[in-house]
Amino acid sequence: MGATIARLFAGHGHEVTAWNRSAGKADALAPLGVRAAASAAQAIAASDAVVLIVADYRAADAILHGPGIAQAARGKLFINLGTGSPGDARAAEAWAGRHGARHLDGAIQAAPSQMGQPDTPILLSGAKPAWDQAQPLLAALGGGNLYLGEDVAAAATMDLATLSYVYGAFLGFIHGARMAETQGLDVAQYGRIVHRISPSFGAFFEHEAKVIAAGDFGITESPLRISIEATARILRESQAAGLDARVPALSAALFAEADRAGLGGEEAAALIKLLR
Ligand SMILES: NC(=O)c1ccc[n+]([C@@H]2O[C@H](COP(=O)([O-])OP(=O)(O)OC[C@H]3O[C@@H](n4cnc5c(N)ncnc54)[C@H](OP(=O)(O)O)[C@@H]3O)[C@@H](O)[C@H]2O)c1
Repeated sequence: MGATIARLFAGHGHEVTAWNRSAGKADALAPLGVRAAASAAQAIAASDAVVLIVADYRAADAILHGPGIAQAARGKLFINLGTGSPGDARAAEAWAGRHGARHLDGAIQAAPSQMGQPDTPILLSGAKPAWDQAQPLLAALGGGNLYLGEDVAAAATMDLATLSYVYGAFLGFIHGARMAETQGLDVAQYGRIVHRISPSFGAFFEHEAKVIAAGDFGITESPLRISIEATARILRESQAAGLDARVPALSAALFAEADRAGLGGEEAAALIKLLR
């Protein structure tokens, strides 16, 4: 990801100095016009803005505790685009504050090959002056940058929230693949169907989020009753087919509980009331 980001910055006419722990990896970027620094401190000293993109915040911390960093950091903007927790983001902002620097926190929601596209999504949060300074620079990485406000932990929190959605859907997806293969259906075709229905389910989830935000659970799109019956049916059929039913058992149990709580006549998003 670091090499991709350096290439995109260089391609947009920025002067880029790169440093990587393993010698030689930054040198390999020379044909793109990227200068290699001999140390992290030298790389930080070379620019007003510093993008950190290493494995995690522990790795970033190890770098930032290195020799010469404290002097080089003063007055600089640090943008950490590595994946981390809300606590990591707060600690990084505090470190920048102690060193007379600014910190903007980011979470990249794309693979390296998807970077630099008009809709490449990067979530960002931190003090407004840091965002204002970073915005023109980050435009080189894609057009889908989203500033979530001054709470520095917002980008990491939203990253976790969207990943929660992705992994919930992935569990259901894998169980569905088992249902298809057990019945001798073409699993590749199942994947194509899932791809085809995903945009409309995305729009449906966006609607359900608006329902939650507004707090009005009157039925507008999908009564919760439908999901109670659907999840019970998936569980029943999975058990009848002798499949590992752990995934449908979880969703059927949650919806059955919602039924007992009298939520069946509300919009599907009312399920959140169980979790509050
Ligand atoms: N790749 C993706 O699809 C993707 C998508 C979204 C977000 N991200 C995030 O981007 C960040 C980088 O991911 P990546 O895909 O570039 O991973 P990667 O290819 O494994 O690269 C990890 C980088 O971190 C460096 N590093 C690891 N431990 C270090 C340490 N203790 N001190 C100094 N440097 C250290 C590595 O240096 P060496 O080269 O010396 O090993 C390397 O430059 C991660 O936080 C990841 O979650 C990646």
